[in-house]
Amino acid sequence: MSRIIAYLNSAGGVGRTTSALSMAVAFSEYGKRVLIVDCDPQGALTFTLGKENSRRTVFDIYSGRSRALGMIHQTAERVDLIPSSSKLYGLARIKDENLLFDALSTFEYDIVILDSGSGFSELNRTVFAAADEIIIPTRLDLLSVRGALQIAEASKGYRGRITAVLPTMMDPRSKVGNEMMAELKVKFGKAVIDPGITKSPLFLEATIAGQSLLNFKKGSELAGRYREITYDFL
Ligand SMILES: Nc1ncnc2c1ncn2[C@@H]1O[C@H](COP(=O)(O)OP(=O)(O)OP(=O)(O)O)[C@@H](O)[C@H]1O
Ligand SMILES: [Mg+2]
Repeated sequence: MSRIIAYLNSAGGVGRTTSALSMAVAFSEYGKRVLIVDCDPQGALTFTLGKENSRRTVFDIYSGRSRALGMIHQTAERVDLIPSSSKLYGLARIKDENLLFDALSTFEYDIVILDSGSGFSELNRTVFAAADEIIIPTRLDLLSVRGALQIAEASKGYRGRITAVLPTMMDPRSKVGNEMMAELKVKFGKAVIDPGITKSPLFLEATIAGQSLLNFKKGSELAGRYREITYDFL
């Protein structure tokens, strides 16, 4: 049985995909067998890893073909990927909230990382239902923190526990940022990772290169920070 870690925040653009990929690669560097499942119809992670327009995707799981061959793709980042598909946008109602969990339970990985889109779509409910652990990446602004709190509230209906709140795109000189950090600590206590990930143009450059930061700039301070954070999850 794999350990299933979901990256969730109902607000968009908070560093979910970046953190999911970076930590997936870090887990793999530590010797874990890692599968990423891209559950965001927008498929940013799938695009970054060069697997857009794959024929077999996570859509197979949602359309009841969870044993479809060829759904798992190997990537240059030494993590496996079940790519997203824009067909997910056209998905009719998902009748069984546990459908993703059931499909994942047949796979043999140490760690399964779930990237998700923003909001509280039916798709995201299957992500909640599948997760053993929830990591909430968040920017240190009001709407992102609000999104984090909404995830905390919604998670109460599910089995998965919030194991970390990960501040991203931090600017240590920002007054609002520091206030938001304090606010997060009041709400989430020790689960807040401090320091989180500071803001850096390297992430944009890595995306353009189609790589995680951990491969794009292996020796960078931020790649190292993602490794340290991941180490605490081993
Ligand atoms: N620490 C950082 N510093 C600067 N830019 C970052 C950082 N982390 C992520 N980014 C960039 O910010 C943008 C949003 O990050 P990301 O895609 O990881 O967030 P998301 O929550 O997955 O967004 P979406 O709602 O689009 O799924 C991306 O362009 C990413 O490269
Ligand atoms: Mg994303």
